Amino acid sequence: MTVDLRTRYLGLELRSPLVCSSSPYTGDLATARRMERAGAGAIVLPSLFEEEILNEEIQLTRALEAGTNQFAEALDYFPAIDSIPSPSDRYVELIAIYKRELRIPVIASLNAATPGGWVRYARQIQQAGADALELNLYHLVADPRMTAADREAMDLELIRAVRAVVTIPVTIKLSPFYSALAGFAVGAVSAGADGLVMFNRFYQPDLDLDTFDVVNRVELSHSSELRQPLRWIAILRPILGPGVSLAATSGVHSGTDAVKALFVGADVAMMTSAILKHGPEFVHTVEQELVEWLETREYESVSQLRGAATAATMGDPTAFERANYMATLHSWSTPPELATA
Ligand SMILES: Cc1cc2nc3c(=O)[nH]c(=O)nc-3n(C[C@H](O)[C@H](O)[C@H](O)COP(=O)(O)O)c2cc1C
Repeated sequence: MTVDLRTRYLGLELRSPLVCSSSPYTGDLATARRMERAGAGAIVLPSLFEEEILNEEIQLTRALEAGTNQFAEALDYFPAIDSIPSPSDRYVELIAIYKRELRIPVIASLNAATPGGWVRYARQIQQAGADALELNLYHLVADPRMTAADREAMDLELIRAVRAVVTIPVTIKLSPFYSALAGFAVGAVSAGADGLVMFNRFYQPDLDLDTFDVVNRVELSHSSELRQPLRWIAILRPILGPGVSLAATSGVHSGTDAVKALFVGADVAMMTSAILKHGPEFVHTVEQELVEWLETREYESVSQLRGAATAATMGDPTAFERANYMATLHSWSTPPELATA
């Protein structure tokens, strides 16, 4: 029996529900080709960050000004500023190359800092031929004058603004830190999102105790981190219905992790840490594990597994909600060697 892995995600027909999420690896064509050969259903490019574009522009302007202050003729040596490709030009070029070189869908990812930036770069990304656009809403709200309601209203407004200027599918990569995530998810869909990607991981800076410098260290995820997307996809799938695409990201490291994500209602299971750790060919290993699991239990397709899931979660909606909190705490049993006599 051959298991049918085909999956619909953001209106795209994927050969498999295993997708390589946004990372430096997906930004390298040779590595992206290996991901495709290993069976990835789609890839998400690293995010285009508006700050990167602005920083580069500032540095370039400074370099030009410094040169011309010293030697007026230096102006002639510098290429015209317009002819130097900016990060957004390079990004657009990358999309065009990927579309020529790969057969799997290419999803672009954008993290802009200004309302104008979201709209401008979203347009360029669509023109470059991206199959879909992931809006990476990664921001840390540290301004005490801004309320959660203000920030959410701004995010919903920018989803509306991007939706108004592109026709390709748009999905929103969420942080898990919302006070009322279900309400925001419904709002995002009403604002025009075709899907949600749950969840982005926040990288916490550390301190070097010798220098007291702030150090940025990327730590890869563990399978246990999948529980957060599992819970929220299980809660949101019945609320949002089958028309909204849901992607699980954070903690997918094996075929059984992918089974769990699909079972609760995700359309795709995304991987980054597992691929950074084991290489692009690991997509194939995870696919084999997924197929083996499905075959052993006589599932014929991924959609059959997903159908079973909806019934299971709807049968007991509290399993992922608050009632489960006490049950989980009470499930802890003290190891006999620590129990007092
Ligand atoms: C080195 C690195 C770079 C990443 N870059 C991006 C990025 O540019 N945009 C984005 O939305 N997510 C980015 N991510 C987050 C991943 O796409 C993914 O959502 C996250 O790592 C959780 O999935 P995982 O448990 O499979 O690693 C990055 C992750 C890592 C480890």
